[in-house]
Amino acid sequence: MAVLVTGGLGYVGSHSVKQLVERGEDVIVLDNLLFGHKEAACGSRVVIGDIGDRDLLRSLFSNNRIDAVMHFAALADVPESVADPRKYYDVNISRSLAMLDVMLEHDVKMMIFSSSAATFGEPKVVPIPEDHPKDPTNPYGRSKLMLEEILREYERAYGLRAISLRYFNASGADPSGEIGEDHTPEHHLVPIVIQVALGQREKVNVHGTDWPTRDGTCVRDYVHVTDLAQAHLRGLDALRNGHATAEYNLGNGSGYTVMEVIRTVEEVTKRKINSVSAERRPGDPAVLVASSEKIMRDLGWKPQFPELRTIIETAWKWHSTHPNGYSR
Ligand code: UFG
Repeated sequence: MAVLVTGGLGYVGSHSVKQLVERGEDVIVLDNLLFGHKEAACGSRVVIGDIGDRDLLRSLFSNNRIDAVMHFAALADVPESVADPRKYYDVNISRSLAMLDVMLEHDVKMMIFSSSAATFGEPKVVPIPEDHPKDPTNPYGRSKLMLEEILREYERAYGLRAISLRYFNASGADPSGEIGEDHTPEHHLVPIVIQVALGQREKVNVHGTDWPTRDGTCVRDYVHVTDLAQAHLRGLDALRNGHATAEYNLGNGSGYTVMEVIRTVEEVTKRKINSVSAERRPGDPAVLVASSEKIMRDLGWKPQFPELRTIIETAWKWHSTHPNGYSR
């Protein structure tokens, strides 16, 4: 049986595709190249197209024996989602519903879904457990929560089972150095700090230095992209063994401040990082740290690279050998 991976040429998608291919799965990637990179295919079969294209989906499901979908394809820029929510509900909800419709038409009833810590909003308890109240502070987070809820209803009504994985701060790169993070424009902290180390940016703006944290900067739970990918494979195995619909947090359970990330990049790269204090970014919670005990207990997930230093070392290996990303 084949696995259909939407958004499989993107950052977390490509790292998951690599592991699927390496263990001998038949992988079909569907990607519209909006954020994906052809160079990240990792030996999968690639189809260029959109998840909202029902005719294309029908031909994919008719012509291949697909048993499960890993659904990465989505928009994921929080400020953009506030400025243009319509776009987020179109891609992350309407087009995902098209995918689910065609899956049901073809009796494909397993999905691994890329969800987010943004489903929680401002945390009331840290580390955040799965059953923490959900109050997303932006349309991106709301779209992810809505699809999680839709998937719950689809299990009850149609027997489609899904595992939703709520990523905290995905970072790092495959230890081989072959694939990594390449977003345009880049908003994420780790690649931005590394771009300063590479001399591609003059400085890092530290968004808020008066937060109620140990050094006044925001705390996040950085989780290695290879560990996220491993969770997808465990989720797939669990669904194939009959696991019911479930949601899991994915983080390391330890938080680092923005300044700690900057210092670690300095240590790893042995280069000085110029950082300046800047305005708080709207919608940023002060602290986001996951409790991932549930996925460890239920699916046996165990992060291989929990240390921030290893995360930064692998990111540095990728960026320093691919300073312009895939189009080097
Ligand atoms: N930051 C800076 N300067 C920068 C970039 C980021 O100080 O130039 C700070 C942010 O304010 C934040 C931290 O670094 O405190 C991490 O920011 P990222 O943009 O790397 O990540 P976020 O925590 O904002 O976002 C991540 C995911 C989102 C998801 C969100 C909540 O990338 O998709 O977590 O789960 F919605």
